[in-house]
Amino acid sequence: METSSEVVLTGCDALADDVRRGLQRSPKRLQPRYLYDALGSRLFEAICELPEYPITRAELNLLAAHSVAISAGVASPLTLVELGGGNGEKLALLVVALVDAGVDLRVELVDVSATALELATRKLARFPQVSVAGHQATYEDGLRRIARQRAAEGRAGGMMVAFLGSNIGNLEPSAARLFLVSIRAALRIDDRIVLGTDLVKPESELVAAYDDPLGVTAAFNKNLLVRLNRELGANFTLDGFAHRAVWNAAESRVEMHLESLRTQRVSIPGSGCEVAFAAGESIWTESSYKYERAGLVAWGTDLGLARHDQWVDEEAGFAVTAFDAVGFRPGSSPS
Ligand code: AVJ
Repeated sequence: METSSEVVLTGCDALADDVRRGLQRSPKRLQPRYLYDALGSRLFEAICELPEYPITRAELNLLAAHSVAISAGVASPLTLVELGGGNGEKLALLVVALVDAGVDLRVELVDVSATALELATRKLARFPQVSVAGHQATYEDGLRRIARQRAAEGRAGGMMVAFLGSNIGNLEPSAARLFLVSIRAALRIDDRIVLGTDLVKPESELVAAYDDPLGVTAAFNKNLLVRLNRELGANFTLDGFAHRAVWNAAESRVEMHLESLRTQRVSIPGSGCEVAFAAGESIWTESSYKYERAGLVAWGTDLGLARHDQWVDEEAGFAVTAFDAVGFRPGSSPS
């Protein structure tokens, strides 16, 4: 549907406007999705290899060990949807189990990144019996489109939506809850959601995961400034800012900030603005919310999602939770 030029244009305008708006707020903020330009995406992949950042390895291990149980009981034919899956490596683990179980499978990928869609599609090419469709769209738009198609075609069978990597952790709890509501709205009874979430764990581990001794996460965070310099003609000096990662226990989130080390002004021609920083003032670039395993299940129950099962990597503090769509309980409101 979208042409690539359309997508590029939309992306640029959104960045320029979002940066102007975000840096005029107090505290200053930039959205975490802007961390993922070409270099940022590679730096994130490097983060996933760090000993201090166990999320990705833990989830891969859980999916590899429990893929059969995770997908147990889903109806065939199955529409398997992955939201923001990246390179498709995790999805492939679920696909293997489903194909082995003889499930007639159709995969729908939703990602705003064309590169991610391409990588995942290539990863799934080794399953010739599985048809793969990519939707370059936001999660909500992509899901809605898929649910509409499914209804229009009168497609029988089930649907399973995978939202992995603790990507839900970037959303504030109220937004995360609304997002689950919108996923639930795209499902029919007995469809499944598979959710990967990082768990609350000791502060030292959380801080190390977001402020690693090699400085890869610092580079990932500061690359945002490199990107603004390149794409918006800004004049951030990298040594004028420091990477900070703090555990906010009251809000149950790790926050990443870029802290200005001195009083300074930065001009951002592409956004048509100039921004003043006090010494010690920071740009808040990401929140990564951490969950409690029981809280997650209770949350789902509230939204018409019954716990199918939950698998936890205790060492890493990471959970994969599978929910089945059920009717809403009378009296509970999904809004
Ligand atoms: C991809 C959003 C799950 O929050 O752990 C890694 C991104 N930020 N290190 C996370 C990230 C800093 C990551 N998510």
